[in-house]
Amino acid sequence: MAGVPLLHSCRGGSCGACRATWVSGEVSFPAGPGLGLTDEERAAGQLLLCRAHPRSDVAVAVRSLRPAGEIERRRLPCRVAQWERLSPEVLKLGLKLPAIEPFRWVAGQAIDLILPDGTQRAYSLAAAPTDGPLLELHIARVPDGKATGALFALGGPGALLTIEGPFGGFIPPAAHAAAPLVLVAGGTGYAPLRALLRALIAEGWTRPTRLYFGVRRAAELYADTELRDLAERHPQLHYIPVCEEACSVANVRRGRVHAALLNEEKDVTDVDVYAAGPSPMVAALRTELLARGLSGERFYADAFG
Ligand code: FES
Repeated sequence: MAGVPLLHSCRGGSCGACRATWVSGEVSFPAGPGLGLTDEERAAGQLLLCRAHPRSDVAVAVRSLRPAGEIERRRLPCRVAQWERLSPEVLKLGLKLPAIEPFRWVAGQAIDLILPDGTQRAYSLAAAPTDGPLLELHIARVPDGKATGALFALGGPGALLTIEGPFGGFIPPAAHAAAPLVLVAGGTGYAPLRALLRALIAEGWTRPTRLYFGVRRAAELYADTELRDLAERHPQLHYIPVCEEACSVANVRRGRVHAALLNEEKDVTDVDVYAAGPSPMVAALRTELLARGLSGERFYADAFG
């Protein structure tokens, strides 16, 4: 209400992006405290803002804070300037906003896409602001999904839609130190991590980075070519594709992405982990990495579904 953009993603208590430390005041959790914190973190006074209801004036300490008004949420018309099938299951949209309307966002944020019939869905932005004014979205086909059905059926660029945003965000501005990065994408969870990679490239990216890209079927491995190219051009990037079902693409590991990661990352005590994908994947990964010694402060997540 005050226009202060607090970090958050899932709004359902599973990703931990909205984590804060209680300072004073009365707070209740009518729907439970959420899965995005361990019992130890809760005992240490941490809480998830998306689950907390203030019962008095409340003070909390948050992990990072952008000034109120720096990022302004707006509702704007847009035109589909790019419509491209990245795979049979994933669509890329490039949305063009009116040139006279300023629209500011940061890597890791999302927008709502509003169709002419009023259907509204949230999607993460897949490019960094330094990439230019087109808003890039990666949209996975949902079986019988009203919104994805309509977007896949567009068949090409030209449609006029509406966006509202940006909102959320799970990447704190000062998060980019020197420790190795471990990025974990589940399906189109790659989109916000792509935005992070694009932002890192613009800043002069040197941190050793291991990126796990996990999908269920080979048809969902939509960013494979882009990531192989990127790893060739940036030797600090180690790319690990993982597919649950049998897959004929070269060097793809078989199984679940979090299992592949746990098998590879023996020491997680000095890494920063960014995970984006379905809520169960993010929650399982967080629990297992914290049990292995990762600090909850160094796990950043964007969760959906
Ligand atoms: S746990 Fe609160 S936004 Fe995800």
